[in-house]
Amino acid sequence: EGKGRLVVVSNRIPLSKPPAGGLVVALDDALRGSGGLWVGAAEEVVETPRDHLVEHPADGYTKLSFDLTAADRNEYYLGYSNGVLWPLCHRRSDLIDFRPEYREGYMRVNRRIAGLLKDLLRPDDRLWIHDYHFLPLAHCLRELGVDVTMGFFLHIPFPTHTDLEALSQPEAFLQWMAAHDLVGLQSQSDVASFLAAIRRAPRGELLPDGMVSYADRRFRIASFPIGIAPQEFAEASVAIDGSDLIGPDRRGAKLMIGVDRLDYSKGIPHRLRGFESYLDTRGPDMPRATLLQIAPPSRSEILAYKEIRAELEQIAGAVNGKHAELDWTPIRYLHRNIPREVLAPLFRAADAAMVTPLADGMNLVAKEYIAAQDPDNPGVLILSRFAGAAEQLKSSVMVNPYDRSQMAEAIGRALTMSREERRARHVEARANVFEHDIAEWSANFLRALGDVRGPGLSVD
Ligand code: G6P
Repeated sequence: EGKGRLVVVSNRIPLSKPPAGGLVVALDDALRGSGGLWVGAAEEVVETPRDHLVEHPADGYTKLSFDLTAADRNEYYLGYSNGVLWPLCHRRSDLIDFRPEYREGYMRVNRRIAGLLKDLLRPDDRLWIHDYHFLPLAHCLRELGVDVTMGFFLHIPFPTHTDLEALSQPEAFLQWMAAHDLVGLQSQSDVASFLAAIRRAPRGELLPDGMVSYADRRFRIASFPIGIAPQEFAEASVAIDGSDLIGPDRRGAKLMIGVDRLDYSKGIPHRLRGFESYLDTRGPDMPRATLLQIAPPSRSEILAYKEIRAELEQIAGAVNGKHAELDWTPIRYLHRNIPREVLAPLFRAADAAMVTPLADGMNLVAKEYIAAQDPDNPGVLILSRFAGAAEQLKSSVMVNPYDRSQMAEAIGRALTMSREERRARHVEARANVFEHDIAEWSANFLRALGDVRGPGLSVD
């Protein structure tokens, strides 16, 4: 590129323990290439936030963190981001916990970060903001007179216009979005939701060629479905034999796997109910199956997360009580984090994966499962039609997670599917996962961001 630095903002930033994969891999090249900066939240809360960003050692680019107080964390991160916006965008407005201090804290933190960024940004920098923690950040920056090119990528679903109405100020959402030059969303259906909201807004207008205008701003909107680093994951999947990792108490049982942060959007209770229904109705010629559900804790201070945990534990206990035999436990539930080096071989060893979110921006577990399969003898992906990944992995066994008997039928189909059919479905999915990887994703977004203002437009 040569001109301008890439400046990335995301709430999570790998400071101490660098996780393999994800955004880190995606952005590494782009950040190094431009001598870029990555800005995110510090890991520990402080008494009084410092009035500058703190630099951390990183190889080839600079990592900077902003401080959060305990009140910031409670109001900005837990309260508004994860207690209001997360349920809103995942079609669970019933779980929204509105409190004025949440919105105030959210705005306070975004304004503070805008102030810190203003001092840092140079006119030819490109700013790439990630996710729902920072919806108003670009707007706050524009208010401070910052004029750099700004892109935003929303990793989670864009709310439908009816869901948007559940916000006390739904217009603010569109106004915040309009402060960017480019807004990237995961799926076509997210783009459709966005355009529907613009169409209904009195100050919104659809222009030709993916351009949108809102109030006095024009910007571009498009979908950029995120991918994974499939090669790395495939290599990790053969480094050890996953079937050696699982104990012997599953005699004659097929292995199914589910891996999700313990979140109500993931449809884990629906999955267990579907599995229960399979066990309830299983004929003598249908195989036994063990469902290995790995669900690392997430946002556990929030009530809705405590409740989903209790619900899951109740269902898993009840299903095992009903169906377990001396030599077989149908549901194995781990409420803990499992490293990727172990997950990848487990994915490969599993005869099927269940990815059954009720709403999901993309869902990378679906792509990781595909990348980990043996192409010669692949497992089957059972995928919710509500995952963004369903637009791409069309050869999966598609399910509606709300329909228990359909889920049971899908499990039976997956576990008895001929090798020929498994291969045919896998070839198609694999091609998609390998072709549209995370490197392509970030390159596409950054290219679009570079094009959106046209060369030479930025003021000196
Ligand atoms: C989703 C969001 C990310 C978030 C991640 C983990 O994938 O899109 O922005 O970082 O969940 O959630 P956490 O609250 O632990 O950061």
